[in-house]
Amino acid sequence: MAFTPKIEINADKTAVNVLWDPTHTSRCNVKWLRFHCRCKRCVPEFSGMFPLDKDEFDDELYLTSAQGKDGVLHVQIDKEVMENHETAIPFEWLKENCNCDSCLKADIARSNFNFANPATTSVPRVCYDSLQSQEGKFECLKQIVDVGFCVIENVTRESLTVLKVGEMFGYIRSTLYEKFFDVKYEPDPYNSAYTSLGLPYHQDLPYYEAMPGVQLLHALEFDDSIKGGESQLVDLFHVADILKKESPENFKVLCTVPGTFQTKDLNRPNPAWYEHTRTHIEVDYFGNTVAIYWNPGVEGALRVRFEDEERYFKAYVHFLRILRRKELEFCFRMKPGDLIIFNNRRMAHARKEYNTKEGKRHLQGCYINLDDMKSTYMVLAHKLGKKVVPPKVGNRCWY
Ligand SMILES: [Fe+2]
Ligand SMILES: [Zn+2]
Ligand SMILES: [Zn+2]
Repeated sequence: MAFTPKIEINADKTAVNVLWDPTHTSRCNVKWLRFHCRCKRCVPEFSGMFPLDKDEFDDELYLTSAQGKDGVLHVQIDKEVMENHETAIPFEWLKENCNCDSCLKADIARSNFNFANPATTSVPRVCYDSLQSQEGKFECLKQIVDVGFCVIENVTRESLTVLKVGEMFGYIRSTLYEKFFDVKYEPDPYNSAYTSLGLPYHQDLPYYEAMPGVQLLHALEFDDSIKGGESQLVDLFHVADILKKESPENFKVLCTVPGTFQTKDLNRPNPAWYEHTRTHIEVDYFGNTVAIYWNPGVEGALRVRFEDEERYFKAYVHFLRILRRKELEFCFRMKPGDLIIFNNRRMAHARKEYNTKEGKRHLQGCYINLDDMKSTYMVLAHKLGKKVVPPKVGNRCWY
């Protein structure tokens, strides 16, 4: 027998209260119920098909009846636009989509990731061969979702293999750096990545409205004779969380006062003019951090009111100091054949300076979209019968 809880219509007939148990009630607004009707006539048959036209309904809707029967809530409203229509929603679906505070919070919490902590987590590594199996591929994706990155070892040291690996997880994202890019020392560089200088913590390309989600870097050559050049990674969401705890005020400033990210270079081989103004931290409706943007190397002029400038720089430097705390840092040296794949929306990356007197260091990189990678992860989890919920990946999604 399907579960049928006690229900009641509220005094002004604009909501149904569903009493799951003495401590748990869903309050369902009349429009919410009508527009989420699960009957065959109301649920679109396929994704992309337009559902009910909400505009056809009156601005004020009232309930005329509500009853629970055989696990389904049946509701009638006063100004129904469909002939002979009764709103029907299984209680199971209603409970899954309960809007009480604790259900909303639990929904968010279950898709949250734990901050990547180098004190308790070692650098996640998988072997290239293991990616041939679905289980192996899932394991690699799980590390990227859980920790924010993964090193794939023993990848064939052939030019453009990085694209092949990228395509295993999503679609290649072309940018102003084109479909793939080489990171090696060049005598006349137009980008600091092509020097042997250290690179401070940053995310790539925040001057795009949709910054590339996942970056892959494949070490084709990295001679032992080269000193330095280690890779460094920090979970920016951890940094933001620490900032929020240490100074709610500074956190708020970085959520409200925007910085400018830009790259303007008309002399590079393919001239570029990109800019995006945005706050460094973005929060959702509930105040949780859902996106972070950080790249001191591509900042443009700060264009905000005078009274916000001092507050901005204070908050900015506080964030930067936390980001530089050694205890937050994963630091390791890539071996030839290593390919690192990391979430560019979540992790800041850096590189230590290296000497160029002898030896070669040649990395090849590309980007893939984060939504595609997340989809690959969910589809694979489903195929393999793993119970996972769509994870938060730092791409602005709230749940
Ligand atoms: Fe970078
Ligand atoms: Zn319906
Ligand atoms: Zn609830």
